[in-house]
Amino acid sequence: MATYKIALIKGDGIGPEIIDEAVKVLDAVAACSGIEFNYTEALMGGIAYDVHGDPLPQETITTAMNSDAVLFGAIGGEKWDNLPREKRPESGLLRFRKELGVFANLRPAMVFDELINASSLKPEIIKGVDLMVVRELIGGIYFGEPKGRDENKGWNTMVYTRSEITRIAHVAFKSAMERDKRVCSIDKANVLDVSQLWREEVEEVAKEYPEVQLTHMYVDNAAMQLIRDPKQFDVMLTGNIFGDILSDEASMLSGSIGLLPSASVGNKVGVYEPIHGSAPDIAGQGIANPIATISSASMMLRYAFNEIEAADKIDCAIAQALKEGYRTKDISMFDAKEVCSTSEMGSIIANYTAKCKH
Ligand code: IPM
Ligand code: MG
Repeated sequence: MATYKIALIKGDGIGPEIIDEAVKVLDAVAACSGIEFNYTEALMGGIAYDVHGDPLPQETITTAMNSDAVLFGAIGGEKWDNLPREKRPESGLLRFRKELGVFANLRPAMVFDELINASSLKPEIIKGVDLMVVRELIGGIYFGEPKGRDENKGWNTMVYTRSEITRIAHVAFKSAMERDKRVCSIDKANVLDVSQLWREEVEEVAKEYPEVQLTHMYVDNAAMQLIRDPKQFDVMLTGNIFGDILSDEASMLSGSIGLLPSASVGNKVGVYEPIHGSAPDIAGQGIANPIATISSASMMLRYAFNEIEAADKIDCAIAQALKEGYRTKDISMFDAKEVCSTSEMGSIIANYTAKCKH
């Protein structure tokens, strides 16, 4: 029997609630797919700071490195907002990504037909949207030197080296080869030198993928085009901060940020996490939508373990639950038959997972 070691990092806010539901679904799929999961929990974020005085304790890195994949909830909250920067939960997450070397962040945005009315955009604009943001994750302005601040000045630097651009561009083109064979590279080459190099290097890499159509778009225009006509995009290739912003925007095409998963890959161990944050305002109320995390668990099965059938079962179960009209609060105003809690939604999807045949 195939056995996979999964590090569970629940984190803060709604993190623990949504991870528990993903585990429920993973256990259901394991039972009917002849696979087995061994979970090890590790602390990160505000909770890790509270327990260890460090948002990313060394033992969390070790646990992650010794696993086959990491399933991650969310971190952060007001409680820790006034700590010095390096003690903040977000700094722990950035260091974690860097330590694991996960330079490629894949953020798919698709629209469930069942939720076509959940988006703030018109159905004809979003029906059939299926795009993938490929975001560089461990470089750019998030990490560039020099950075700092004094009383009257704060500064960060957007740096990309040629080799950093090359490796993320390959991920985007490879992803496009599996999809609609179109890459739109996002930059600000009309203003930024770093973007000029980005564009130059992406064009170099494109030569190795003659079947893929490459276009370039300035980031401000891309923000506008995503709303005007999102179906024009297949793969959007971005640097770190542009992808952070555009992937939040893209998530709203689907109607709720509580629906979309992500995978951070590039080295031995990948990190699978919902794209939303820790939502401290709704933590502990049992109203968070677990679908983004359950869908991230499916991405983990697909990308990290190559358990395609098991991943398909979960995706099919999510679609089934939505089709039957089950809705968590965030999407409850759209064709709901029944409004359910976080854990009810998890159980419903777990039950369907066991029944889905592929
Ligand atoms: C994300 C988040 C993080 C980021 C924060 C929490 C550091 O917004 O994963 O998109 O900016 O990368
Ligand atoms: Mg973000």
